Amino acid sequence: MTSEQKQQIYSLLKTASDSILGYKSKSFDENAPFFKDDEKIQLQEKQQPQQKIQPQENTKSSNQILPQSMQNVIEKIAQCSRCPLAKTRHNTVPGTGVSSPFVLVIGEGPGFEEDMQGLPFVGPAGQLLDKMLAAINLSRISNVYIANIVKCRPPQNRNPYPEEADACSSFLQAQIALLKPKAILCVGTVAAKNLLKTEFGVTKLRGQFFEYQNIPVCVTYHPSALLRDISLKRLAWEDLKFFKTKLLELNPGYESQYIPYVKQ
Ligand code: URA
Repeated sequence: MTSEQKQQIYSLLKTASDSILGYKSKSFDENAPFFKDDEKIQLQEKQQPQQKIQPQENTKSSNQILPQSMQNVIEKIAQCSRCPLAKTRHNTVPGTGVSSPFVLVIGEGPGFEEDMQGLPFVGPAGQLLDKMLAAINLSRISNVYIANIVKCRPPQNRNPYPEEADACSSFLQAQIALLKPKAILCVGTVAAKNLLKTEFGVTKLRGQFFEYQNIPVCVTYHPSALLRDISLKRLAWEDLKFFKTKLLELNPGYESQYIPYVKQ
């Protein structure tokens, strides 16, 4: 009940009581109680509009997302202004690939081309990434989803600041929860550090399997690093072969699901 409704009932009862007892009410009743809205009504009035917009969302913390669908995450990312990268982006870059991927590839953040197109790994590094994946029968059209640590381009392609990566982390967590990949490949130090919460770089982390929420994780060089220093390509190839041993363990027939990705 609202304070106004309570006030009306009080006035009615007071008028009736005055009339029975035979004395006139003061115009300002100094003994009148102070009425407050019932708590339940306040909560319902405040929560209802939010529930209508995001019926499935957990609102425990503003930074936590438990989404209903990938579409829901993509919309959240598109509306995001949690960090300053939102001010300089042309497009958000949530990710691309199949909805139940065998492998999730995690990069660092969008570059120039990605920011313009709203798609991850579509520039020169992306073309090399597609070749690396093809070498072990993986592609974004058959068995892979590709996402980044940050969904907006850091200016001048600098590394994302820790606060930017932290502000964005719940999106990747939500994506992993929805995609349920069987294995994760981190390309580059930024991806590995942020996912595995380590201070080590690729050189230390490569050649081992880690776990993220029981999902095996492998780390290799970022394709941009391979474009800058071709001597790293041999090591990256070693990493891919090593990663493939795990993929075959997880699903010996996975290669039969491979469809080559041909960029339009
Ligand atoms: N580099 C990344 O880490 N991600 C992209 O999407 C593009 C380039």
